[in-house]
Order: sequence, then structure tokens, then C-alpha cells
Amino acid sequence: MNTKFLCCVAAASVALPLLAGCQRSPEISYVKDVTPILDKHCKACHVAGQAGYVVSGFELESYETLMKGTQYGPVVLPGDPLTSVLVMLVEGRADPSLKMPHGDAKPLEPAEIATIRQWVEQGAKNN
Ligand code: HEC
Repeated sequence: MNTKFLCCVAAASVALPLLAGCQRSPEISYVKDVTPILDKHCKACHVAGQAGYVVSGFELESYETLMKGTQYGPVVLPGDPLTSVLVMLVEGRADPSLKMPHGDAKPLEPAEIATIRQWVEQGAKNN
């Protein structure tokens, strides 16, 4: 083994983790990325007259109603996916009786869950 090779190995082992650490996740758009997921999996029950809205008060009509949350208050805490009820529900971290989508509906794809989580993490912007 020559020293040049060893140097390259050393440089790579320092540079790679640094590069990985610098990589930011791309900014999630509420309009382009988040709304289609909520429309597909949640909206049918969370508009006026439907069970989800009637029981919880959580309406998926607009960004404003999403941020308003349920009759008990917000389910999205910007920057805090860990305690945002919206994220807890789609990640299955809440009581099984509160699984969302409700009942037997198929859970979200891991990529869809990640999108919602990142959007909340990035400040839940109306972008
Ligand atoms: C099949 C109908 C249905 C679908 C689809 C559905 N929900 Fe619900 N949702 C309900 C019902 C019914 C409740 C009230 C449950 C209860 O309080 O027992 C509810 C309650 C909620 C609540 C309030 C929970 C609380 O803390 O009281 C939130 C937030 C919510 N849903 C989010 C979602 C999200 C996000 C989706 C999509 C991933 C979704 N729902 C899909 C029917 C639905």
C-alpha cells in the first residue's frame, strides 16, 4: 500500500460524511406535494357533512382549515413533526381507534408519510 492511496482513503472517509451532512432535503410544497396526498387519502371524510369533519371538526377545505385543526385545536405544529397530531396519525403513532385514514382504509405510502413529516419539519408553510 502506498501513501498516496492511504491519503485518498483518509480524505474520502472525512469528506463523505461531511457531504452527507450538508445535503438538505428539498423544500416540500404544500400545494404541489401535500395537498394531493390529503385529497387522495383524507378529504372524502374531512369536509362538511362527512363523518371525519362532523366528529372531530377537522376540515380539509383549505390551508387555513388544516392549520386550524380540530375542535380541540391545531394538529400541525410548524417545525415539530414529533408532537404534531397530523404526523402522529399518519405514522400510526396514535391509538389504533384513531388510525388515519380511518377504519380499514389503506395507510399512506412511506414516501407520502415522509413528505408530510418533512413539510411540518420545514415549518408547514402555505407554499
Ligand atoms: C373513512 C373516513 C376517514 C378518512 C379517510 C380519514 N378520516 Fe380522519 N377522522 C375520521 C373520523 C370518523 C374521525 C373522528 C374519530 C374519533 O374521534 O373517534 C377522524 C378524526 C381525525 C382527526 C382528529 C383526531 C383527534 O385527535 O381527535 C384528524 C387530525 C384526522 N382525522 C386526520 C385525518 C387524516 C390526516 C386523514 C388522511 C390521512 C384522515 N383523517 C382520513 C374519518 C376519516
